[in-house]
Amino acid sequence: MTMTATTARTTDFPAQFLWGSATSAYQVEGSPLADGAGPSIWQRFTRTPGLVRDGDNGDVACDQYRRYPDDVALMKALGLNAYRFSVAWSRVMPQGRGSVNAQGLAHYDRLVDTLLAHGIAPAVTLFHWDLPAALDDRGGWLNPDIAGWFADYATILFRKLDDRVRLWATLNEPWVVTDGGYLHGALAPGHRNRFEAPIATHNLLRAHGSAVQAYRATGRHAIGIVVNLEPKYAASESAEDRAATARAHAYMNRQYLDPVFFGRYPRLLEEIFGEAWPRWPADDFALIRQPIDFVGVNYYTRSVTRFDPQSWPLQAAPVRQPRATYTETTWEVFPQGLTDTLVWVSRRYGNPPLYVTENGAAFFDPPVVEGERLADPLRVDYLRKHLKAVRNARAAGADVRGYFAWSLLDNFEWSLGYSKRFGIVHVDFDTQKRTPKDSARFYANVVATNGRALDEDEARAAAAAESTASPPQRLP
Ligand code: BGC
Repeated sequence: MTMTATTARTTDFPAQFLWGSATSAYQVEGSPLADGAGPSIWQRFTRTPGLVRDGDNGDVACDQYRRYPDDVALMKALGLNAYRFSVAWSRVMPQGRGSVNAQGLAHYDRLVDTLLAHGIAPAVTLFHWDLPAALDDRGGWLNPDIAGWFADYATILFRKLDDRVRLWATLNEPWVVTDGGYLHGALAPGHRNRFEAPIATHNLLRAHGSAVQAYRATGRHAIGIVVNLEPKYAASESAEDRAATARAHAYMNRQYLDPVFFGRYPRLLEEIFGEAWPRWPADDFALIRQPIDFVGVNYYTRSVTRFDPQSWPLQAAPVRQPRATYTETTWEVFPQGLTDTLVWVSRRYGNPPLYVTENGAAFFDPPVVEGERLADPLRVDYLRKHLKAVRNARAAGADVRGYFAWSLLDNFEWSLGYSKRFGIVHVDFDTQKRTPKDSARFYANVVATNGRALDEDEARAAAAAESTASPPQRLP
């Protein structure tokens, strides 16, 4: 990926910019089987010994299923004007298809009303990894029928909530579903199979297309897809490193967006998957290539990539950068990558409206001390630099219309359990007490000033640096 050289100096976030935070159902809700819900694959995955750090699970998580009024009040206190959450498919349809669980649906109805009553726009993701276990029993994402099941489930939600929800996303990070769930096995359903991953990819995309089609029949607002993008920069100019970088880029950044926008997969996927890459029916691409209203970009880090014959199946590996800051999930902090990514999506795919649907960092936080601020300077710095990167992308022409910090709360970080904290608000998992970190205060200030605080903050930091650099002045 090429580097975009721009620095926006003035505030250029439009008045209607969405300033939000994001979560997902299994990571925050808890009460997974309450009110008639069915189990999801994460219920099963977390109950299989050895798969999740410390044997953690989402049975309680942040208890948001019950505490959502408090969490909405908290968002309001921070001044946020949008909330991205996901719906647990197996709450709405315990078997994943067939009968609807009215009580499960009612929960999201109440959540949407509560958000709107506080002036917070709901942004709903239909699928954030918690597939109903009953559908996994039928093959999950490997079963081609799943496109229809997903569209049926989506239609229930469109009918119930589209009068109030203006922003819908079909899938969250389909790349992670296939790479983690079907190729490397680190995430539910935990398969490790080169032949399955492309099939899961294709059915995820067919499901996305079917849901968009269903939305055009029932919905009146905007629908898109959320992808995780990680710009790849070649470690050297060597032909091997450049080819490895192109493979990694095709696999992670183009695998889903090329079919959605162009109706075809990148050629390089055939090279990567070899005999495991099937021939797809041409008709499928008409379904996949439904016009969408926006792209949601989840951005955390970049990768500097080199050729590595041992690395399966890409033969490409990341190179650790000296002098860089790394987060607790061992991701390099690289804000320029967010600008480059947003500009790349914008230029390659015809300047669609964009939302940064996730961005944030896990760092160790100090213990909470009653009555004292919870200082998380590395997260504040991460947010400040990435928000500026968004502004730079806008200045370079990317139509970015909103930003959602990941995450509102410390939460269940999948196979890493509760060991990594991404929240701008600290959660004490014994008491469920919420304590806003300095990053929440910083973000609230950015939101309150529609971005102006990004510069004020910089000026203050420069002044502070100056005052510590020069010797104290003696007053006459
Ligand atoms: C996911 C989140 C996850 C976050 C941090 C994203 O890949 O959508 O569910 O918690 O990254 O790892």
